[in-house]
Amino acid sequence: MPTAERPTGGGTVPDKPLLRALRGEALRPPPVWFMRQAGRYLPEYREVRARVRDFLELCYTPELAVEVTLQPLRRFPLDAAILFSDILVVPHALGNPVHFVENEGPRLEPVRRAEDLRRLSPDRLLERLQPVFETVRRLREELSGEVALIGFSGMPWTLAAYLVEGCGSREFLLARRMARENPALFSRLIELLAEAVTRYLEAQVEAGAEAVQLFDSWAGVLAPGECARWVLDPARRIVARLRARFPEVPVIAFARGIGALHARYAAEVPLQGVSLETSVPMDWARDSVARPCGVALQGNLDPVALLVGGDGLLAEIEALAAAADGIPWIFNLGHGVLPETPPGHLARAVRHLQSLFGCAN
Ligand code: CP3
Repeated sequence: MPTAERPTGGGTVPDKPLLRALRGEALRPPPVWFMRQAGRYLPEYREVRARVRDFLELCYTPELAVEVTLQPLRRFPLDAAILFSDILVVPHALGNPVHFVENEGPRLEPVRRAEDLRRLSPDRLLERLQPVFETVRRLREELSGEVALIGFSGMPWTLAAYLVEGCGSREFLLARRMARENPALFSRLIELLAEAVTRYLEAQVEAGAEAVQLFDSWAGVLAPGECARWVLDPARRIVARLRARFPEVPVIAFARGIGALHARYAAEVPLQGVSLETSVPMDWARDSVARPCGVALQGNLDPVALLVGGDGLLAEIEALAAAADGIPWIFNLGHGVLPETPPGHLARAVRHLQSLFGCAN
């Protein structure tokens, strides 16, 4: 299918389905991609992963990062590629040691006192992240037609949570405690990260990212007041700066777990898309987020439904499609593809979604 071009203020923007949905079009079938669509559930990813020692080496080797980004697109008819990288490259490029322990997750040198903050410096941030921008440039050359390229960053609260804790956690108690016990110091950390995230996203767009997704994966552990301060406020400032410089580049926010606060987030931050976690009812988000704020919704199939497959998976997709009726919607998961997921279930999900809207394939 040829790519339609439509004129805009700054030239022509390709009419890719993902970008059209983010501009407010209720496309049916909706555009589709999956969070963590590149990853361990694919044998070809595991093969490339085995060639490098540290996971970060994969993120910083453009040839390999391009390859794993494209792997899911060779298998499934997806509408977007997401840059292969990780949210923790930002703390790493700020000079804080980060490494990944096999089967255990990330380990970071903890940042808990004023002295620890001195380790973080924005001076060489963009220089250290050059391989990521090179990956973005190569992907834009490789991707053709209808597939949009999404860049991303972790957001300050989630990055701070990993930095303070020093590893993953279910509750991030140390970070939540520091935010309340020493808000002045915590605020310095958040400010530093907000500046780094803004510059990082700007450089991804300059390299060729056509949309960006903001990952605040641990927003849901915060009380509403804390969420306003550490999640919404930085998002408002980061997105305002991005929109001022690149008004044509849509922004999707994934503030996982904030529930009813999605309505406030979308009202206060100039977003184009809201990515919903699995627990949010799509019909509530349609009426309370999408319609009043004029944003597209993305999500929010349960990754466990995708893993288990069968008739339950098909029924969940039908229920989502019914609840998203009439609004701009991007089909996705409520969180990332689980490593145990059979790849065939992604193909089945995409086929079923298309068949619901009379698209034979
Ligand atoms: O396909 C894609 O979605 C793009 C790639 C991507 C990765 N991480 C690759 C990855 C993206 C967008 C991320 C974001 C990310 N990283 C988040 C936000 C999204 C979310 O899941 O909530 C977070 C919290 C991280 C931090 C992180 N990275 C953790 C906690 C882990 C270890 C846990 C795990 O799943 O292994 C990682 C490692 C990681 N990032 C892997 C991949 C494919 C697995 C590492 C491996 O292959 O050994």
